Amino acid sequence: MTLEEKIGQLNLLTGGEATTGSTVSNDVETKIKAGKVGGLFSMSSPQKVRKTQELAINNTRLKIPLIFGMDVIHGYRTAFPIPLGLSCSWDLELIEKSARIAATEASADGICWAYSPMVDICRDPRWGRIAEGSGEDVYLGSQIARAMVRGYQGSDLSKNNTLMACVKHYALYGAAEAGRDYNTTDMSRVRMYNEYLPPYKAALDAGAGSIMASFNEIDGIPATANKWLLTDVLRKQWGFKGLVVTDYTGINEMVDHGLGDLKTVSAKALLAGIDMDMVGEGFLTTLGQSVKDKTVAMADIDRACRKVLEAKYDLGLFDDPFRYCDDQRAKTEIFTENNRQQARSAAANSFVLLKNANKTLPLTKKGTIAVIGPLVNNRENMAGTWAVSADFAKCVSLVDGIKHGGGNNVSVVYAKGANVYSDPTQEANVSIFGKPTNRDNRSDAELIEEALKIAQTADVIVVGLGESAEMSGESASRSDIQIPQNQQDLLKALLKTGKPVVLVVFTGRPLVLTWEDANVPAILNTWFGGSEAGNAIADVLFGDVVPSGKLSVTFPRSVGQIPIYYNYKNTGRPWSGKEGFEKFRSNYLDVSNKPLYPFGYGLSYTRFDYSNLQLSARKMKRSDKLMATVTVKNVGDFDGQEVVQLYIRDKVGSNTRPVKELKGFQKIFLKKGESKTISFPISINDLKYYDNNLNYIAENGEFIVFVGTNSQDCLEANFILE
Ligand code: NOJ
Repeated sequence: MTLEEKIGQLNLLTGGEATTGSTVSNDVETKIKAGKVGGLFSMSSPQKVRKTQELAINNTRLKIPLIFGMDVIHGYRTAFPIPLGLSCSWDLELIEKSARIAATEASADGICWAYSPMVDICRDPRWGRIAEGSGEDVYLGSQIARAMVRGYQGSDLSKNNTLMACVKHYALYGAAEAGRDYNTTDMSRVRMYNEYLPPYKAALDAGAGSIMASFNEIDGIPATANKWLLTDVLRKQWGFKGLVVTDYTGINEMVDHGLGDLKTVSAKALLAGIDMDMVGEGFLTTLGQSVKDKTVAMADIDRACRKVLEAKYDLGLFDDPFRYCDDQRAKTEIFTENNRQQARSAAANSFVLLKNANKTLPLTKKGTIAVIGPLVNNRENMAGTWAVSADFAKCVSLVDGIKHGGGNNVSVVYAKGANVYSDPTQEANVSIFGKPTNRDNRSDAELIEEALKIAQTADVIVVGLGESAEMSGESASRSDIQIPQNQQDLLKALLKTGKPVVLVVFTGRPLVLTWEDANVPAILNTWFGGSEAGNAIADVLFGDVVPSGKLSVTFPRSVGQIPIYYNYKNTGRPWSGKEGFEKFRSNYLDVSNKPLYPFGYGLSYTRFDYSNLQLSARKMKRSDKLMATVTVKNVGDFDGQEVVQLYIRDKVGSNTRPVKELKGFQKIFLKKGESKTISFPISINDLKYYDNNLNYIAENGEFIVFVGTNSQDCLEANFILE
């Protein structure tokens, strides 16, 4: 290959179906024909992809096929719940299946490379991209990362129904200061190794073929030019052999980061370990000169080019460049009835019942239900952020879902009641992918008045409030994460009717629901449930499905508590846990340390009783496996699923250790009245952590084992490691 041909392979352009920056790719066709493009993303359909692939195959000397990527984030045409929602299912099989379905659909539509899973740990719900990840916990996040990779890639990447996964955003993108997207991150290596890096590694260990560098800086150097991150950790420590791609214009953005001109930053990125340059064309336009200047060696270009070619080889593109362009598959394998059913079940499993006083839920299937709120009658918003390929028109709204689910004895009345925001400019500003919220031009007071009239005619009010799809996701940080004021006003007015009110929350992040928790009898958090959202919500509201979702992320009482997470450190002056302020202790004057809803929390229509936590021994040797067993009994009135959670605390270490860390979980099904004994094996690996010198160790001493229904309500037992 000539130098130009090699550099061409490093250039990744966009087909423009979903644009996430100010730069777009121009003259794509000409560049492909000239061998200046290695791949394209954001282009779909077998016809378009075939036509584009032909440009490369028929016009370039070496006929090297293009690779076709896409943001396949939570489903494809059939949208599954947003990843944060899916993670609340704690159901790895279901999550893997969702990725498998996404891979089947996307690969039938010309695509072979998915920019997923997004495994960024996040403890700051102001950050809009919290919607795209699996929440705050490193253990749960790592399990989910593996499941998604298995789902996308299957056992053979070269099959025409699998996708190459791209783990992102490496690294620490979810730790942006102040929750502001693209912002600086800065953290100790101890924290990185223990709490943030493992999910990326887990995804790679599961075989992910590629990884995307993040926009943020780490230790003062943007990830895109961070040799320590991309070479020392990724290649040398972790042994990753796959492809490393930038994020959208990640190289060019280093000019604004203040690292030099485009030629300088492009060379820095290559030398740090980037193989492929997304959209910015810094590699294309400057690397030739850098080789001449000897600031970059041919060996560096060869390394990057080899990685791109290997990925294409693994995907089978050299055998058949058109293997993902099957018109027949596109007709029969996308948005199938089966896929929709799976999406419906996944959605119902992702919802978290936050409150259910007086058994308000489930609803009976009779009488009149008023379904009220700015998003309850809007299909476009059901799929949530990054559903770039979803069939929005076929999504099921809440109004439609309740109509179908309620059957003949239920009549449904609807009113909008409020716009998403009072202020039209705020509503307009959030739109990236242009999903309409169907703004109503009437005043807030008029909308509420109409809603009250409708509500008066009903036996029960289901009010759907919260965020529109685009209030979370990329570039959607918020400083006030309450339900917008005008929507709260609607809720207050509806509560005054004295009728039973069920609040269905649409959101891409944990919201501050402190007022709602104190005043509304029932709250179901539904995230964005995907194509079948409305049906799935109705399934749960009517009790056809008993809710089982558990929070993968803490819900704060107040924005001022952020960052708030369950696996915090004790400090030298811990708060006692009793209500009320304590002087000279680590707490606030004006708010409790406790979250509104803790990690792992979620109610059911039934109740589970935990008893008899036993350890197989009180002393453990390093080679031993300890068994923790607990009896869980369904003592309520419904059959249901429960996520049994195991946490461990390392009581004494040479480093400070978190007050507890998730180390295992099992999702079980119990018929009413049934009980089961659940066992968790504990081995030395569950007790290890990275110490101050980054040695991965388990230290002798006392450990506490917690087993329970969430991170706060647990039984406890202890043992000694000797
Ligand atoms: C920017 C986002 O950060 C990334 O997640 C996405 O994969 C790329 N744009 C491509 O759309």
